[in-house]
Amino acid sequence: MGKVGFGLAVGIAVVTCVVAAGVVGKRVRNRRKWRRVMGVLKELEEDCGTPVSRLKQVVDAMAVEMHAGLASEGGSKLKMLLTFVDKLPNGSEKGLYYALDLGGTNFRVLRVQLGGRRSGIVKHDVERKPIPEHLMTSTSEDLFDFIATSLKEFSDKEDKDSSLSPPSRRELGFTFSFPVKQISVSSGLLMKWTKGYSIHDMVGNDVSECLHQAMARQRVDMHIAALVNDTVGTLALGHYNDEDTVAAVIIGTGTNACYFERADAIIKSQGVPTSSGGMVVNMEWGNFWSSHLPRTTYDIELDAESPNPNDQGFEKMISGMYLGEIVRRVILRMSQETDVFGPIHDVPLKVRKLVVNICDIVNPSSSSIGRDGSGGVASSRPKGPSSSNRLKRTVVAVEGGLYSNYRMFREYLNDAVAEILGEELAPYVILKDTEDGSGIGAALLAAAYSSPETVDT
Ligand code: BGC
Repeated sequence: MGKVGFGLAVGIAVVTCVVAAGVVGKRVRNRRKWRRVMGVLKELEEDCGTPVSRLKQVVDAMAVEMHAGLASEGGSKLKMLLTFVDKLPNGSEKGLYYALDLGGTNFRVLRVQLGGRRSGIVKHDVERKPIPEHLMTSTSEDLFDFIATSLKEFSDKEDKDSSLSPPSRRELGFTFSFPVKQISVSSGLLMKWTKGYSIHDMVGNDVSECLHQAMARQRVDMHIAALVNDTVGTLALGHYNDEDTVAAVIIGTGTNACYFERADAIIKSQGVPTSSGGMVVNMEWGNFWSSHLPRTTYDIELDAESPNPNDQGFEKMISGMYLGEIVRRVILRMSQETDVFGPIHDVPLKVRKLVVNICDIVNPSSSSIGRDGSGGVASSRPKGPSSSNRLKRTVVAVEGGLYSNYRMFREYLNDAVAEILGEELAPYVILKDTEDGSGIGAALLAAAYSSPETVDT
C-alpha cells in the first residue's frame, strides 16, 4: 500500500475504476470463470451487509464506548479528548488571523479577515501545498521547518498588501489533525501518528512548542493562540455560520468527530473549569472498534499489513486513505482466481461494470458504517442543553473529500442517518457540508482565544 495519497474517496473510486479498466482487457472466455468472479462479488456484498438492526448495535456500542471514554482516562478505545475549547466563535470576532492546517495529504496556510458582528468573514486567502512524502517519516525538525517556511513565504506576501492595517502581533490557529492530549487550548502532546505519518522523535512532544521553535528558526513572529484538531476547526466554522451546530465529523483521508459536551458529563475532567459549563470533546473515533462492525477478509488483511495493525480499526474501514486499497484487494483476489483482469487493452464492458460494482459495494458499506458514528453522536444529544424535553434542531458540520466530492456517498450517508435516527428525531438533525472548516475554524478559534488587546480592530 502506498503512503498517504488517497485523499478523496471519489478520486479513489473513480481512479481505481479507470486504472483497473485500463489494465484489464482479457475477454472472459467462459461462463465458469465469470461465475467464480460473481461468487467473489456476492461474498463481498454479503460480508459488507449492514442491515439497520446491525447498525443499531454498532450505534449502541459506540454510545457505550463514549461514556466509558468520558468516565476515565484510557477507559475506552475512544479517547474522548479534552480540547479546552469551552466557547465557540459567535460572529463578534474581528481582525486578521492566520491558520495552518496539517493532517492529510495537503497542507494549507490561511489568512482570514474577520469583520465582526455585521460583516462576518470579509476575506480569506488559502495556499495549498502537497506534503512532500519524505517529510511524513522524517524528523519533526524537517516537518516543522517546512511548515514554518511556508508560513513565512505566505505572510511575506501580506506585508506587500498595503490595504491591510498592520496589527501589533499576528495570532495563529494551528489545526493539527492527529490525536493530541491537550494541556491548554493552545498546546498539547502528540499521542500517536495516524494516516501514514510516522516521525518517532515527535510522539510525546508538545506540538505547539515544535512549531514555536521552527518559527523562531525561520524568524516568523506569530503567537499560537489555538492548537486544534480538524474536527474542532470544522465545528468552530459550523457554529460561526449556524449556532445550532454542536458536532462535527471529518470523512476524508482519515475520519473523526467532536461535539460539545456538558462539563458534568465529562467525569474524568472534574475540576477543569469551563466558562460555559461545557467543552468540545475530540472523540478520536477512528480508533473505535466493535465486533458488530462488518469486517471482511479484505479489511483484516489490510489491517494486518498496515504499519499500525490493530489500531484505527474504524478509520481503516471507512476513510478515504483505505477505501481504494480495499477495492484493489478485491480486484486482486478476482484476478488470482480467474484471468478476468488479463493484460489485454480491449476492455469488455462487462468487466468495467464489474469494477464499478465492487466500488459500489465498498463505498455504500463504508458510508453506512460512517452513519453509525454520525447517528451515535446525534442521538447522544437529541434534546438541546436545556432541561426541557422539546426536541432541538441539531446541526452536524461535515468536512472531508469523501463527503463533499462524492455525491453518492453523501446521499447514502444522509439517507442512512435519517433511517437510523427514526422519523421522530431525523427532521431535527441536519448534516451540513462545511468547506475549509478545519482551516478557517482554526483562525476563528485563534480570534476567540487571543487576548483582546492583540485583536486588530
Ligand atoms: C486522526 C484525527 C483526525 C482524523 C481526520 C485521524 O487519523 O487521528 O485526529 O481528526 O484523522 O483528519
